[in-house]
Amino acid sequence: MSWWQDTVCYELYPRAFADWDGDGTGDLAGATARLGHIAELGADAVWITPFYPSPLADGGYDIADYTAVAPDLGTSEDFDRLTARAHDLGLKLIVDLVPNHTSDQHPWFREALAAGPGSTARGRYLFRPGRGLAGELPPNDWQSAFGGPAWTRVADGEWYCHLHAPEQPDLNWREQEVRSAFSDVLRYWLDRGVDGFRVDVAHALFKAEGMPDAGPGQHQDPLRNHLMPYYDQEELHPLYREWRKLLDTHPAPPGAVAPHDRVMVAESAVFDPARLARYIRPDEMHQAFNFAFLEAAWDPAELRRVIDASLSAPGGGAVTWLLSSHDAVRPVTRLGSAMRARAAALLMLALPGSAYLYQGEELGLPQATIPDHRILDPLWERSGHTDRGRDGSRVPLPWSGDLPPYGFTTAKAERTWLPQPDDWAPYTVAAQERDPASTLTLYREALRLRRAHPAYDPTAAPRWYSAPTDPYLAFRRSALTCVVNLGTQPLPLAGLGLTGSPVLASGPFDGGTIPPDTALWLVDDTEPQHNEGDGHGPVH
Ligand code: NOJ
Repeated sequence: MSWWQDTVCYELYPRAFADWDGDGTGDLAGATARLGHIAELGADAVWITPFYPSPLADGGYDIADYTAVAPDLGTSEDFDRLTARAHDLGLKLIVDLVPNHTSDQHPWFREALAAGPGSTARGRYLFRPGRGLAGELPPNDWQSAFGGPAWTRVADGEWYCHLHAPEQPDLNWREQEVRSAFSDVLRYWLDRGVDGFRVDVAHALFKAEGMPDAGPGQHQDPLRNHLMPYYDQEELHPLYREWRKLLDTHPAPPGAVAPHDRVMVAESAVFDPARLARYIRPDEMHQAFNFAFLEAAWDPAELRRVIDASLSAPGGGAVTWLLSSHDAVRPVTRLGSAMRARAAALLMLALPGSAYLYQGEELGLPQATIPDHRILDPLWERSGHTDRGRDGSRVPLPWSGDLPPYGFTTAKAERTWLPQPDDWAPYTVAAQERDPASTLTLYREALRLRRAHPAYDPTAAPRWYSAPTDPYLAFRRSALTCVVNLGTQPLPLAGLGLTGSPVLASGPFDGGTIPPDTALWLVDDTEPQHNEGDGHGPVH
């Protein structure tokens, strides 16, 4: 089994993790200094979101230079120190690859603007003439994921395509120069010792030939994403096969994992499990984020359906699970309570496969409200101030102390990258470390037990001990059994037909009854552990 198949990977959003130089923005040296937190938590890997030079039109996902470090985050040497420290702590390091679009400040785009229509420089992007008598209308009806048309017109009358903000022009992936430049980017970071890549909007790089209209209802039904002319095109797959070959063969520097053990994880908003599975074939990506799990409602039938569908989808790799990310509303807020978020964490961490945690999830942070004048997310402007965007989950972590900036920085609280709420003292790492009932203690204990009782086959479905209509979920994988009470009534443990001793609960468990919105783990070492996928099938 490869390390990534059951890895617990911690997503580190560098500007909000820890600040070293005292300017109020998190940086690479701060991340290096605080990596011990991730190791003590019990994670196996770190995925660090973009730390490259960027005008920050979209939190760093608008990159002006793919092989450098943003000056406010540090230097290339700081990155090397981060990598070395991660490896010393036994953590793998995954970096973000953002191939769909560059920043509008990238030298290629500046050159394209200067060079004019028909130039080679424009050929690296998706420039088109407009529709209408004078070309005054966008070339087609495509909408940006952030709202508004996916096209912006430049001074000479041509339009360029951007599936996100106008400051993020989409690249033309049919252009060989684009292709080879990104292979060089992959090689560059592999040479610096990274253990893999998270590939941003991996479903969007190619657009259908002729760029036909997408029709009404775009972005409204994620299940139809794969039908959009700008998503899920066939040409993606040869490209990912090319990258996989590169990953599998490029020599590994000291400290990094062997070539065949490097991982590529797709951020692919394709929700049809069969379509998503096509990204994780044995010669393509290793993993794809399972957004269906993140988006599932707090409902036993829906969660079970998503779990079963995820595990039974064809594909070469193990399933990933995630409850949060820098793009999602924090689970405490999204699911409706801290109780539910804690129970959801035990549910996720009991499932076979790998889990991606997002910084602050282990502290049970709620979504913060950012005052209008401090909002950075382009969604706010693009939506005409109707969508406050994702900044509420990107607030600097509280490390210690009673008031902002809670040990995040030595700068004054007013200067932090996004403001922290005044009432976060109970959420700090320091406060939670001392508290056996804290969310941090729960996560640490869950990860310790998960490691002690691995799923021997991370691709095998768990055995269900609950029926699809029960108001609770109960399943077993290897020695670990997880019960989650999603109903409104307390659930007596006796009578559920489970074996094993209770070892961890997400809420007050009195030894006999599981309260609503609470999960319980039991361990039973007596049964043979290689029981997954053994053909016995689910109990229910
Ligand atoms: C997905 C990233 O996670 C998100 O933060 C970003 O806005 C888009 N891709 C565009 O790069």
